[in-house]
Amino acid sequence: MARRKYVVGNWKMNGVSAALADAQAIFAGAEARPAVDVALCPPFTLVGAMVAAAPAGAAVGGQDCHSAASGAFTGSVAAAMLADIGARVVIVGHSERRDGFGESDADVRAKAEAGLGAGLSVILCVGEPRDVRESGGAIDHVLAQVAGSVPDDFDPHRLAIAYEPIWAIGTGLVPTVADVAAMHGAIRGALAARFGDAAADMRILYGGSVNGENAAELLGTDDVDGALVGGASLTAAKFLPIVEAAAAL
Ligand code: 13P
Repeated sequence: MARRKYVVGNWKMNGVSAALADAQAIFAGAEARPAVDVALCPPFTLVGAMVAAAPAGAAVGGQDCHSAASGAFTGSVAAAMLADIGARVVIVGHSERRDGFGESDADVRAKAEAGLGAGLSVILCVGEPRDVRESGGAIDHVLAQVAGSVPDDFDPHRLAIAYEPIWAIGTGLVPTVADVAAMHGAIRGALAARFGDAAADMRILYGGSVNGENAAELLGTDDVDGALVGGASLTAAKFLPIVEAAAAL
């Protein structure tokens, strides 16, 4: 069966209660495009309220989780705690966590396992910095991240990879379609080598400066099964055109 397109908003550290109206508008628009799976990942403080404000069954997620189930980890949130307040998704391994909080591939793998264990769908991020792209090492870098951070055993429908070149995040820069296709094809190949037929059920999202103008081309690229969107996910006016572009494919 063809993989359903998946468009995910990562609100990062943006939004207080007033932003729930934006989430409601986004989910209302998404309901009108049922062929596309849509999820929003607001700051942790809004997850519970967004679940309550969204239509039943809407996918709301966290942006990170701890790998442990509980314990002395001040400031952290366990995957089961996200599930407990109605989250259905968690992002792990975002470059802003790998780089800003020193998370290793092993840390990201442990978080992915925690998310899956708590019954959440996981979006596991990988991506290369600019100097690695410029030196021609992007594919090797990303495949090493995939090898090190994707768990061994999981339902392929519940783990998506998000390829987010770090230099494309929040910059307005995007790789060429050829480079996106090459990277996504390489990731699919590595997953197939490791997981066999199950790799065909795993979705590979592109992230980094996706917007209403470039979404159709990016989402129409081979092996691009959706988008992980930052800045353009904060309002319905910017996000729904991306969902529409996915629905039109
Ligand atoms: P932008 O869409 O703002 O470039 O952010 C991408 C991202 O990091 C999503 O996780």
